[in-house]
Amino acid sequence: MDIERLRREFPARRIEYYPTIDSTMRAAAGLEAGSVVLADEQTAGQGRLGRRWHSEAGSGIYCSIVLKPIPVLTLALGLATADAIARSTGMVCDLRWPNDVMLAEKKVAGILVQNAIAGIGINVNHSSFPPELASEATSLRLHTGAPVSLTDVILALLPAVDRFVELDKDTILRLFTSASSYAAGRRVTVAQPEGVIEGTTAGLDPAGFLIVHQDDGTDTLIVAGGVRAAGS
Ligand code: BTN
Repeated sequence: MDIERLRREFPARRIEYYPTIDSTMRAAAGLEAGSVVLADEQTAGQGRLGRRWHSEAGSGIYCSIVLKPIPVLTLALGLATADAIARSTGMVCDLRWPNDVMLAEKKVAGILVQNAIAGIGINVNHSSFPPELASEATSLRLHTGAPVSLTDVILALLPAVDRFVELDKDTILRLFTSASSYAAGRRVTVAQPEGVIEGTTAGLDPAGFLIVHQDDGTDTLIVAGGVRAAGS
């Protein structure tokens, strides 16, 4: 990652860089809005729902950006991440509600929002994953077949985040719905506190929550993650 180039391209931003850190989320807490924390490696990368984020040294983008709170921020960040991947590699990603960026049905990037700090992890040059992740994770390189410049992806990512967080809520919901194969008409299972439900997605409600229409006719509003393609 060419940190000096990033600082030249975004002179107004505070950009902190760590060769290794526990989590960029911790380092970003308390910094002013607009600040960016990047690391080559995380030793305790945080995922959603208390999971760990696999943060192999030198292979991925591990980035936290301090933002101002907006509605449906997670959805805006997924759109921004997919936009940055498209601009820097030409590859078109799917979005799995609420925070997963997908390539060929596997997760290539994830979003974590804590107190308006955007945590974005992108699997860029990983050539393999630990066995427990191998069936569900992928990297940009595994799809392009050639190394991808981390710097180029970040150069696209920071302006993309700026653009998408400026949009109003209804526009974000509309763009997410058209970019995501999961938003409507997709057969899914969802892990709920009471157990796993299965149904067909039926759009987003005005707050950005996912509606799942079950075969018994009930609609369930999904407010947290745990959505998977049925049969996967
Ligand atoms: C998820 O899909 O579960 C969210 C993953 C978010 C990972 C990123 S990597 C940069 C930032 N620092 C962290 O510790 N987590 C986020």
